[in-house]
Amino acid sequence: MKVLYCASEALPFLATGGLADVAGSLPKALVSKKVSCRVVLPLYDSISQEMKDKMKFVTSISVPVAWRRQYCGVYEARVGDVIYYLIDNQYYFKRTGGIYGHFDDAERFAFFSRAILEMLPYVDFKPDVIHANDWQTALVSVYYRLFYANSEWYSGIKTLFTIHNIQYQGQYGMDLIEDVLGIPYHDKDLIEFDNSVNLMKGAIECSNWVSTVSPSYAKEILDPWFSHKLDSILKERAWKLSGILNGIDVESYNPETDKVIHSPFTTESLQKKADNKRELQKELGLQQNDKVPLIGMVTRLVSHKGLDLVKEGIDNIMQYSNAQVAILGSGDKEYEEHFCWMQEKYPERFVIYVGFVPTLSRKIYAGSDLFLMPSKSEPCGLSQMIALRYGSIPVVRKTGGLNDSISDVGDGKGNGYTFTSYSTGDMVNTLHRALHDYNSQPEKWKEYVAHAMQCDNSWKKSADEYISLYQSLLKR
Ligand code: GLC
Repeated sequence: MKVLYCASEALPFLATGGLADVAGSLPKALVSKKVSCRVVLPLYDSISQEMKDKMKFVTSISVPVAWRRQYCGVYEARVGDVIYYLIDNQYYFKRTGGIYGHFDDAERFAFFSRAILEMLPYVDFKPDVIHANDWQTALVSVYYRLFYANSEWYSGIKTLFTIHNIQYQGQYGMDLIEDVLGIPYHDKDLIEFDNSVNLMKGAIECSNWVSTVSPSYAKEILDPWFSHKLDSILKERAWKLSGILNGIDVESYNPETDKVIHSPFTTESLQKKADNKRELQKELGLQQNDKVPLIGMVTRLVSHKGLDLVKEGIDNIMQYSNAQVAILGSGDKEYEEHFCWMQEKYPERFVIYVGFVPTLSRKIYAGSDLFLMPSKSEPCGLSQMIALRYGSIPVVRKTGGLNDSISDVGDGKGNGYTFTSYSTGDMVNTLHRALHDYNSQPEKWKEYVAHAMQCDNSWKKSADEYISLYQSLLKR
């Protein structure tokens, strides 16, 4: 079976969020299971020179973008056993100031989506399934339906669209429909929602199947509290909606071989986890003390990650427990400023590092005892799985992928601490429950840590689920 995986970012080329982790690890897992899966992504100028050096020029073609025709270079790179195609056009992808958020994003990703389809005959790869992800590649399914499905070379390809986060839909003015997206006006219903262009809605409409990154989130997005308005569209198409939980790259995230952390460890050498904690405390200016529980967070500082609860509740934890807190992330000023103030109020106990430093994130996973993720919504979440792998016990709100990957230790089999309602009180109580267990039952805690590290969040099982889904599409 041949699958083309379309993404706007993928490790090890470039990452801004969880999609890049998935696009860098699911294809690898599929290839190891004999699926011929290739990945396509834009050749951003900001990709490192080291990765650019791995790319070979394949061909150049011209790609329609509404009435324009644009240059499109196709490059190929191999990472392990996976072949990546990189779509080059400097006008669209040589930008400063981030890979998204430009005035012409709709045009940039319309070009990318069209280029994906146009390049296929030239690279001689006819996929059985095109698997697109998020709003940036949502147009692939729309263009396939409109312009390719009936042509001989392309006929019979099935399309799958995965929603990694329904909040980001790709909404633009209706004036773009013909002039920029090149969609005939009489087909505008495919892509119109709420008097705007909505790329995600277009993909939900036109793809053979729609998936999300956890079974719980697949149910949640039928509810207006989670759907960012798309519930009505999804409810009508619930027959073609399902959820498959993401895995993580367990080779990259491996506390036994991780070169970044101070002292690699396994379940057999848990005392070394304490070394990592001491080093982390030193590096971040926290008091070096093995005995106090260290709560870690690695997160974007935005509301849907549950930061309102943390902002409101963390002072209670600082006052009524011996815990230390280390936060790594950036985002809304409101949270950054509040946590900077907490850092002043609780020197050597509370620290925020504003920014994102991948090496520091690994040190936080390895050095913390508890990992806090009180998300308001969480399509899947990868951090809780990485935390488990490094023996940091997750404290999470039961939503989306957090609900599907973490269960409470209270039931005797669980791997974390959970609470249900989106309330500061519930988060604070759950943290106190966890801190109490940490302080009062050190032997039991070691068992929790060892159990957490043994949880299997590799892609093994989920890659099989994707393969079954692809196979079911081919039979339709
Ligand atoms: C998005 C979601 C996150 C998910 C990731 C990968 O970033 O917000 O929950 O883990 O995509 O699918």
